[in-house]
Amino acid sequence: MSKLIINGPNVVTGEIAVQGAKNSVLPILAATLLANEVSVIKNCPDISDVSATVEILLHLGCKVTRRGSGEIEIDPSSASGVDIPYNLMRGMRSSVIMLGPILARMGRAKVSYPGGCELGPRPIDLHISSFQKLGVKFAEEYGFIYSVCDKMIGTEINLTFPSVGATENIMLLASKVPGQTVIHNAAREPEIEDLQSFLNSMGANITGAGDNTIYIEGVETLHGAEHSIIPDRIAAATYMIAAAITGGKLIIKSVRPRDLNSVISLLEESGAQIRTDENRILIDRKRPIQPIRMVRTMPYPGFPTDALAPLMAYSTVASGNSMYVETIFQNRYKHAEELMRMGANIKVEGRVALVQGVPRLTGANVVATDLRGGVALVLAALAANGETTIDNSELIDRGYENIETNLQSLGCKIRKVDVVEKS
Ligand code: EPZ
Repeated sequence: MSKLIINGPNVVTGEIAVQGAKNSVLPILAATLLANEVSVIKNCPDISDVSATVEILLHLGCKVTRRGSGEIEIDPSSASGVDIPYNLMRGMRSSVIMLGPILARMGRAKVSYPGGCELGPRPIDLHISSFQKLGVKFAEEYGFIYSVCDKMIGTEINLTFPSVGATENIMLLASKVPGQTVIHNAAREPEIEDLQSFLNSMGANITGAGDNTIYIEGVETLHGAEHSIIPDRIAAATYMIAAAITGGKLIIKSVRPRDLNSVISLLEESGAQIRTDENRILIDRKRPIQPIRMVRTMPYPGFPTDALAPLMAYSTVASGNSMYVETIFQNRYKHAEELMRMGANIKVEGRVALVQGVPRLTGANVVATDLRGGVALVLAALAANGETTIDNSELIDRGYENIETNLQSLGCKIRKVDVVEKS
């Protein structure tokens, strides 16, 4: 357990290199199970979700060596595990992404339901129905899902929703299923393209990632490979908003501006000045923060749901009303109440939130409710007058590498305090 203590206001100034993408490294670490040789993954972010995934790989029998500077070596040759225990499954909802690789490697798997989380229920019906089409048989008992695949053959799969996790899980399993598998209405996120490029470097034969139809020609064997994870577009968006909300000037390096078009256009609408080149973004904001008429989260390339909470923190101090509509998750506004403790004026009605800008927030004692909601509180606290303490800040460490030292290097008064858990 830990908490962050932030004294505001601050002005975020300087430059920062963006960490590797959390939502790319997790499926790619899972993909290493598909080979019997060593893979080396570079530019892995030092975040607790990566540690949780490494725990699962170790439990399955992999040898994992974490070298410094974000390099992880995985040797799956002696992996023979087929189950993910409850505690490891509940620790990270996205561990369902292991199902495809375990089935492809061992022919059977036992996982517990990932269960709901802060964002609402996290069903996996699209994963299961897609796998059933490939020939996987499922049984559920006592909260566990047992799956077995004797004979699988490639097929056409139509996703009723472009689920990121389901698209990735199908790519992982089908990469070694004989025949052609086609995913229609596939998710188009950059992390899907990164997974395709890693799988193909292992010897897979996948095309179409980044578009809404993905073609997978199953192959017999995959070999180990080396891969460097793409930059984290949500972390980049978060640091851009840190500069915008504090009226600072920030250069973001080793980033892919093309992954952030929807974020850049909304920040420009709010009065920030943004310049980009191949792998850098310069942002500063001198004009008053303008309200953003409508922020609607959509599957990529629309505005990402993971950037909603950080952007909402910014809108709380705009000179007018901004409307937010969340279309992906059921409960993306748990952080709103905490922002209101800092003086924000937010009305939430179901998936819609109306944010009425106020001149200035004030520091308060608040609690992180989830990963992105937690970082929204950090952004608000940077701009607020006075001291803010953010409890449960370990939730933020799930997706942000060294957030306090990064912000300190950008001139912010922030420190982390470890909290001894009451026994
Ligand atoms: C991935 O989650 C990301 N996580 C999420 O990032 C991100 O918000 C989300 O994609 C949307 O972009 C990782 O990549 C590890 P989905 P995922 O399957 O795969 C429903 C963060 O903060 N659904 O696209 O779980 C689901 O309930 C995290 O970095 C089904 O109904 O997202 C949700 O409403 C949060 N049935 C919607 O689809 C299914 O079988 C989007 O889910 C699967 C999903």
